[in-house]
Amino acid sequence: MSKIVGMGFYAPEKVYDNAYMESIVETNDEWITQRTGIKERRIAADDEYTSDLATVAARRALEDAGMSAEELDLIILTTVTPDYFTPATACVVQKNIGAVNAAAFDLNAACSGFATAMTVADQFLSNGTYKNVLVISADALSKATDYNDRGTCILFGDGAGAVIFSSEKGGVLSSWIGAKGDGGDKLTSLAYREDAEETEKRISHNKNTIWMAGSEVMKFAVKIMAEAADKVVADAGLTWDDIDIVIPHQANVRIVDSAAKRIGIDTDKMFINLDRYGNTSGASIPIALCEARDAGRLKKGDKAVLVGFGGGLTWAAAVIEY
Ligand code: UT7
Repeated sequence: MSKIVGMGFYAPEKVYDNAYMESIVETNDEWITQRTGIKERRIAADDEYTSDLATVAARRALEDAGMSAEELDLIILTTVTPDYFTPATACVVQKNIGAVNAAAFDLNAACSGFATAMTVADQFLSNGTYKNVLVISADALSKATDYNDRGTCILFGDGAGAVIFSSEKGGVLSSWIGAKGDGGDKLTSLAYREDAEETEKRISHNKNTIWMAGSEVMKFAVKIMAEAADKVVADAGLTWDDIDIVIPHQANVRIVDSAAKRIGIDTDKMFINLDRYGNTSGASIPIALCEARDAGRLKKGDKAVLVGFGGGLTWAAAVIEY
């Protein structure tokens, strides 16, 4: 009961390519390319924040939908790099775009944010509470990245993706969201909590940067992506032959390839743009969705699987009919 009626994305202008990463940490283009598939990432300007990225993406989605901001009933924004703890970044965007009739709140499911928020939006639309919901995933991960840590800094980039869902038949055919809190210590970024052990793990000892046990997260990712994608396809009453495209969270090309192998589908069914953006957290799926549509890979009536995983640990998957 939640059709996509508009979408848009924004990626900042500044680029950190692999040559630049080589200049700041002990790494090289060959290692990064083979181990991750990433070639470059977009980086927000010093005075450009998550709400700024989100606002541009939201305006583009409204334009794409031919809708005015006043028609929005709700804005859900997912991020792990909010401008403030309060107000919610969703409220900042609400003000910026003039969505005076919309409720607004943030949701934190890390890289699983988009498909999680979409699932929440679908509840409000399916039960008749709201007519138009804007889901935005935006992150300025560069502000939370330890640029002395070669294990994480080569991965992350900044960006925002926004999608407007309206209460029309079809749309979200099935979804599954989940969490495994006992794996939460594998990917952390501290807020108020003082945790000497966690802080010590970070090369720069800055508790607000992201720390990750990369290969453990990777093992979790491959398994859960395959399991979640299989489940939502079955729950929608479909088989993999009915699916036109898979839009996975863009973390690492090896994760995407291994998940495809596990599911038993051709990697060609997977849409990949992480070479140009790196891992933009929750924004990666809506950015990829926009690019897939613009490249003619996602057409009206097509069925797409969206599947993400991330900090929490969390996962979220859905089948949509575009
Ligand atoms: O959105 C959810 C967030 N999570 C993720 O996306 C992360 C998922 N994990 C990954 O993508 C991978 O685990 C990484 C790309 C982070 C690392 O790849 P890996 O194959 O798991 O490598 P590793 O961490 O096991 O490290 C292998 C070697 C180590 O050297 P030694 O100990 O074998 O001598 C690392 O020190 O590679 C070294 N290494 C690097 N070498 C060159 C780690 N980072 C780099 C680097 N350049 N940037």
